[in-house]
Amino acid sequence: MSRVLIAPSVLSADFANLARDVAAAEEAGADWIHVDVMDGHFVPNITIGPAVTAALRRSTTLPLDVHLMIESPERLVPAFAEAGADRITVHQETCPHLHRVVEEIRAAGAQPGVAINPATPVDSLSEIVPYIDLILVMTVNPGFGGQAFIATSPKKVAEARSLLERAGRSGTVRLQVDGGIDPTTAPEVVRAGADVLVAGSAVFRASGGPPVSVSALRVAAERALTSSTLR
Ligand code: DX5
Ligand code: ZN
Repeated sequence: MSRVLIAPSVLSADFANLARDVAAAEEAGADWIHVDVMDGHFVPNITIGPAVTAALRRSTTLPLDVHLMIESPERLVPAFAEAGADRITVHQETCPHLHRVVEEIRAAGAQPGVAINPATPVDSLSEIVPYIDLILVMTVNPGFGGQAFIATSPKKVAEARSLLERAGRSGTVRLQVDGGIDPTTAPEVVRAGADVLVAGSAVFRASGGPPVSVSALRVAAERALTSSTLR
Protein backbone atom coordinates (compact mmCIF):
# COMPACT_ATOMS: atom_id res chain seq x y z
CA MET A 1 0.00 0.00 0.00
CA SER A 2 1.19 3.53 -0.70
CA ARG A 3 2.18 6.05 1.95
CA VAL A 4 -0.81 7.32 3.95
CA LEU A 5 -1.73 10.88 2.96
CA ILE A 6 -3.37 13.47 5.21
CA ALA A 7 -6.02 15.70 3.62
CA PRO A 8 -7.33 18.39 6.01
CA SER A 9 -10.89 19.48 5.20
CA VAL A 10 -11.29 23.25 5.14
CA LEU A 11 -14.92 22.78 6.18
CA SER A 12 -13.71 23.04 9.77
CA ALA A 13 -11.29 25.92 9.11
CA ASP A 14 -12.14 29.55 9.88
CA PHE A 15 -13.92 30.73 6.71
CA ALA A 16 -12.88 34.31 7.50
CA ASN A 17 -9.23 33.20 7.52
CA LEU A 18 -9.04 30.40 4.98
CA ALA A 19 -5.66 31.39 3.54
CA ARG A 20 -4.13 31.50 7.02
CA ASP A 21 -5.57 28.11 8.01
CA VAL A 22 -4.62 26.42 4.75
CA ALA A 23 -1.07 27.78 5.06
CA ALA A 24 -0.91 26.36 8.59
CA ALA A 25 -2.01 22.94 7.33
CA GLU A 26 0.55 23.08 4.52
CA GLU A 27 3.34 24.05 6.92
CA ALA A 28 2.29 21.24 9.24
CA GLY A 29 2.93 18.71 6.45
CA ALA A 30 -0.56 18.11 5.01
CA ASP A 31 -0.51 16.33 1.64
CA TRP A 32 -3.75 17.54 0.03
CA ILE A 33 -6.37 20.17 0.87
CA HIS A 34 -9.89 18.67 0.92
CA VAL A 35 -12.67 20.99 -0.28
CA ASP A 36 -16.22 19.99 0.69
CA VAL A 37 -18.83 21.26 -1.76
CA MET A 38 -22.47 20.95 -0.62
CA ASP A 39 -25.60 22.11 -2.42
CA GLY A 40 -28.44 22.02 0.12
CA HIS A 41 -30.13 19.28 -1.97
CA PHE A 42 -28.05 16.10 -1.99
CA VAL A 43 -26.97 17.04 1.53
CA PRO A 44 -28.71 19.46 3.89
CA ASN A 45 -25.86 21.96 4.10
CA ILE A 46 -24.47 24.61 1.69
CA THR A 47 -20.75 25.38 1.63
CA ILE A 48 -18.15 26.23 -0.98
CA GLY A 49 -18.38 26.90 -4.74
CA PRO A 50 -15.94 27.42 -7.60
CA ALA A 51 -15.06 31.03 -6.59
CA VAL A 52 -13.83 30.04 -3.14
CA THR A 53 -12.06 27.02 -4.66
CA ALA A 54 -10.21 29.40 -7.01
CA ALA A 55 -9.24 31.54 -4.02
CA LEU A 56 -7.92 28.44 -2.23
CA ARG A 57 -5.95 27.60 -5.39
CA ARG A 58 -4.15 30.92 -5.06
CA SER A 59 -3.34 30.31 -1.39
CA THR A 60 -1.63 26.90 -1.53
CA THR A 61 0.56 24.78 -3.77
CA LEU A 62 -0.92 21.54 -2.36
CA PRO A 63 -3.27 19.49 -4.55
CA LEU A 64 -6.92 20.55 -4.16
CA ASP A 65 -9.09 17.48 -3.53
CA VAL A 66 -12.65 18.59 -4.29
CA HIS A 67 -15.48 16.46 -2.87
CA LEU A 68 -18.75 17.25 -4.67
CA MET A 69 -21.77 16.49 -2.48
CA ILE A 70 -24.14 17.95 -5.06
CA GLU A 71 -26.88 16.76 -7.39
CA SER A 72 -26.05 16.64 -11.13
CA PRO A 73 -22.35 17.25 -10.44
CA GLU A 74 -21.54 17.13 -14.18
CA ARG A 75 -22.98 20.64 -14.50
CA LEU A 76 -20.20 22.04 -12.31
CA VAL A 77 -17.24 19.80 -13.20
CA PRO A 78 -15.82 22.29 -15.77
CA ALA A 79 -16.12 25.20 -13.30
CA PHE A 80 -14.28 23.34 -10.52
CA ALA A 81 -11.59 22.13 -12.93
CA GLU A 82 -11.17 25.70 -14.16
CA ALA A 83 -10.95 26.87 -10.53
CA GLY A 84 -7.91 24.64 -10.07
CA ALA A 85 -9.23 21.35 -8.65
CA ASP A 86 -6.61 18.63 -9.06
CA ARG A 87 -9.01 15.88 -8.06
CA ILE A 88 -12.79 15.85 -8.35
CA THR A 89 -14.82 13.23 -6.50
CA VAL A 90 -18.51 12.72 -7.20
CA HIS A 91 -21.01 10.60 -5.30
CA GLN A 92 -22.14 7.35 -6.89
CA GLU A 93 -25.65 8.15 -5.56
CA THR A 94 -25.85 11.37 -7.63
CA CYS A 95 -24.78 9.93 -11.00
CA PRO A 96 -27.02 7.61 -13.05
CA HIS A 97 -24.42 8.04 -15.82
CA LEU A 98 -21.38 7.66 -13.61
CA HIS A 99 -19.00 6.49 -16.33
CA ARG A 100 -19.79 9.56 -18.42
CA VAL A 101 -19.22 11.93 -15.49
CA VAL A 102 -15.90 10.26 -14.66
CA GLU A 103 -14.77 10.67 -18.26
CA GLU A 104 -15.85 14.33 -18.18
CA ILE A 105 -13.75 14.93 -15.06
CA ARG A 106 -10.71 13.43 -16.76
CA ALA A 107 -11.35 15.39 -19.96
CA ALA A 108 -11.49 18.57 -17.86
CA GLY A 109 -7.96 17.82 -16.63
CA ALA A 110 -8.69 16.53 -13.11
CA GLN A 111 -8.31 13.10 -11.55
CA PRO A 112 -11.70 11.43 -11.01
CA GLY A 113 -12.84 9.88 -7.75
CA VAL A 114 -16.11 8.26 -6.68
CA ALA A 115 -17.58 8.46 -3.17
CA ILE A 116 -20.10 6.14 -1.54
CA ASN A 117 -22.38 6.93 1.38
CA PRO A 118 -22.46 4.64 4.44
CA ALA A 119 -25.51 2.73 3.14
CA THR A 120 -24.17 2.27 -0.41
CA PRO A 121 -22.44 -1.08 -1.02
CA VAL A 122 -18.81 -1.25 -2.15
CA ASP A 123 -19.86 -3.61 -4.96
CA SER A 124 -21.66 -0.70 -6.63
CA LEU A 125 -18.17 0.50 -7.66
CA SER A 126 -17.03 -2.70 -9.35
CA GLU A 127 -17.69 -1.53 -12.94
CA ILE A 128 -16.21 1.95 -12.49
CA VAL A 129 -12.95 0.93 -10.75
CA PRO A 130 -10.95 0.63 -14.01
CA TYR A 131 -11.70 4.29 -14.81
CA ILE A 132 -11.04 6.15 -11.57
CA ASP A 133 -8.09 7.33 -9.47
CA LEU A 134 -9.78 7.38 -6.06
CA ILE A 135 -12.49 5.66 -4.03
CA LEU A 136 -13.94 7.62 -1.12
CA VAL A 137 -15.64 5.52 1.55
CA MET A 138 -17.73 7.92 3.66
CA THR A 139 -17.36 7.12 7.33
CA VAL A 140 -20.21 9.47 8.32
CA ASN A 141 -23.34 10.54 6.46
CA PRO A 142 -22.15 13.52 4.40
CA GLY A 143 -23.33 17.03 5.23
CA PHE A 144 -21.53 18.25 8.31
CA GLY A 145 -18.16 18.23 10.02
CA GLY A 146 -17.73 16.97 13.55
CA GLN A 147 -19.95 13.87 13.35
CA ALA A 148 -19.17 10.55 15.00
CA PHE A 149 -17.30 7.88 13.01
CA ILE A 150 -19.60 4.99 12.00
CA ALA A 151 -18.19 1.93 13.72
CA THR A 152 -18.79 -0.53 10.88
CA SER A 153 -16.69 1.57 8.47
CA PRO A 154 -13.39 -0.36 8.75
CA LYS A 155 -15.07 -3.50 7.40
CA LYS A 156 -16.28 -1.49 4.41
CA VAL A 157 -12.82 -0.04 3.84
CA ALA A 158 -11.43 -3.59 3.83
CA GLU A 159 -14.02 -4.57 1.21
CA ALA A 160 -12.98 -1.59 -0.93
CA ARG A 161 -9.30 -2.57 -0.61
CA SER A 162 -10.20 -6.09 -1.67
CA LEU A 163 -12.18 -4.77 -4.67
CA LEU A 164 -9.11 -2.76 -5.76
CA GLU A 165 -6.88 -5.82 -5.36
CA ARG A 166 -9.21 -8.01 -7.41
CA ALA A 167 -9.27 -5.33 -10.13
CA GLY A 168 -5.47 -5.06 -10.11
CA ARG A 169 -5.74 -1.41 -9.15
CA SER A 170 -4.57 -1.46 -5.54
CA GLY A 171 -1.35 0.40 -6.34
CA THR A 172 -2.90 3.03 -8.59
CA VAL A 173 -6.24 3.99 -7.02
CA ARG A 174 -6.22 5.89 -3.73
CA LEU A 175 -8.61 4.68 -1.00
CA GLN A 176 -9.85 7.65 1.00
CA VAL A 177 -11.96 7.89 4.16
CA ASP A 178 -13.87 10.96 5.28
CA GLY A 179 -15.77 11.71 8.48
CA GLY A 180 -14.94 11.32 12.14
CA ILE A 181 -11.27 10.59 11.43
CA ASP A 182 -8.98 11.41 14.34
CA PRO A 183 -5.91 9.79 15.95
CA THR A 184 -8.20 7.19 17.59
CA THR A 185 -10.16 6.10 14.48
CA ALA A 186 -7.29 6.56 11.97
CA PRO A 187 -5.46 3.32 12.93
CA GLU A 188 -8.60 1.23 12.37
CA VAL A 189 -9.18 2.52 8.84
CA VAL A 190 -5.49 2.44 7.92
CA ARG A 191 -5.23 -1.20 9.03
CA ALA A 192 -8.30 -1.92 6.90
CA GLY A 193 -6.54 -0.43 3.86
CA ALA A 194 -7.28 3.32 3.69
CA ASP A 195 -4.41 5.42 2.35
CA VAL A 196 -5.89 8.96 2.36
CA LEU A 197 -7.30 10.35 5.60
CA VAL A 198 -9.61 13.36 5.39
CA ALA A 199 -9.98 15.16 8.69
CA GLY A 200 -11.73 18.45 9.43
CA SER A 201 -12.40 18.99 13.09
CA ALA A 202 -9.49 16.78 14.17
CA VAL A 203 -7.13 19.12 12.27
CA PHE A 204 -8.58 22.63 12.61
CA ARG A 205 -10.53 22.38 15.87
CA ALA A 206 -8.12 20.25 17.89
CA SER A 207 -6.09 21.98 20.55
CA GLY A 208 -2.78 23.12 19.11
CA GLY A 209 -4.31 23.31 15.61
CA PRO A 210 -2.63 21.95 12.45
CA PRO A 211 0.99 21.99 13.74
CA VAL A 212 0.02 19.41 16.37
CA SER A 213 -2.91 17.63 14.76
CA VAL A 214 -1.48 16.82 11.33
CA SER A 215 1.51 15.07 12.85
CA ALA A 216 -0.71 13.32 15.43
CA LEU A 217 -2.73 11.83 12.57
CA ARG A 218 0.40 10.85 10.67
CA VAL A 219 1.94 9.19 13.70
CA ALA A 220 -1.31 7.28 14.41
CA ALA A 221 -1.48 6.10 10.78
CA GLU A 222 2.17 5.06 10.61
CA ARG A 223 1.99 3.19 13.93
CA ALA A 224 -1.04 1.30 12.67
CA LEU A 225 0.85 0.21 9.57
CA THR A 226 3.92 -0.87 11.54
CA SER A 227 1.85 -2.85 14.03
CA SER A 228 -0.20 -4.53 11.28
CA THR A 229 3.02 -5.56 9.47
CA LEU A 230 4.38 -7.08 12.68
CA ARG A 231 1.27 -9.15 13.18
C1 DX5 B 1 -18.63 15.55 5.60
C2 DX5 B 1 -17.45 16.06 4.79
C3 DX5 B 1 -16.18 15.91 5.51
C4 DX5 B 1 -16.07 16.70 6.78
C5 DX5 B 1 -15.31 15.87 7.74
O1 DX5 B 1 -19.78 15.62 4.85
O2 DX5 B 1 -17.35 15.36 3.58
O3 DX5 B 1 -15.06 16.15 4.67
O4 DX5 B 1 -15.42 17.91 6.63
O5 DX5 B 1 -15.31 16.50 8.97
P1 DX5 B 1 -14.82 15.78 10.29
O6 DX5 B 1 -13.40 15.34 10.03
O7 DX5 B 1 -14.95 16.83 11.31
O8 DX5 B 1 -15.72 14.59 10.49
ZN1 ZN C 1 -15.41 15.52 2.34
